[in-house]
Amino acid sequence: MYVLDTANIKEIKEAINFYQIDGVTTNPTILSREQKETYFDHLKEIQELLKEKRLYVQVTATNFKKMKEEADLLLDKLGNDISIKIPASTEGFQLMKHLNEKVHITATAICSYELGLMSIACGADALALYINRMANEGIDANMVTKNLRTYIDQTNSKTKLLGASFKNVVQIRENFLHGVHAVTISYDLLKQSMKAKILEDSVLQFTKDFQTQYLVEDATYLKK
Ligand code: G3P
Repeated sequence: MYVLDTANIKEIKEAINFYQIDGVTTNPTILSREQKETYFDHLKEIQELLKEKRLYVQVTATNFKKMKEEADLLLDKLGNDISIKIPASTEGFQLMKHLNEKVHITATAICSYELGLMSIACGADALALYINRMANEGIDANMVTKNLRTYIDQTNSKTKLLGASFKNVVQIRENFLHGVHAVTISYDLLKQSMKAKILEDSVLQFTKDFQTQYLVEDATYLKK
């Protein structure tokens, strides 16, 4: 349901510790925000933290031959459980068809219904929908999401929708309500999504009432 959109080791460790995280998505921009490390060492470190959860890694080349070579290298270095993120470009579709059935594929930078449909046809297991980037272009991202979900459900397609590129909590919530199976978000947005003043105030009051009544900090002091 929640995937983390970061390559920051500290954030990944914390998020895994506190929440239920289904995986980590990376792309060249996300990796460029971190301290320069050896590419595969960095990815392997994330993979070790994730254990059986999925790591998503994007191909960086732009022509089919090099993209294919890169995908083979990623699989060789990181194993078959990763999901290879492939931009939904013309060359990207060619690669999706080539890899289809053999590996997990996430078609990425999906910003229209048509790009989503073609990615499904080419065998993508997941579609990373660029919600905020669509919104910035005046595209109704939730309508794109809803229409793709309808198509997936009506055709019993295996493809899952992964909302991505969010800038606030409302975007995430609305995208869930329009049919994404999961979202990939920054650690800050994840923490922000799980914050609630009513919850915090309630917990504070429960603690206060317990302590006033029993004159100890919490129930563990009443073990005997
Ligand atoms: O997972 C996709 C995401 O990293 C793109 O997000 O914020 O660069 O639009 P953003």
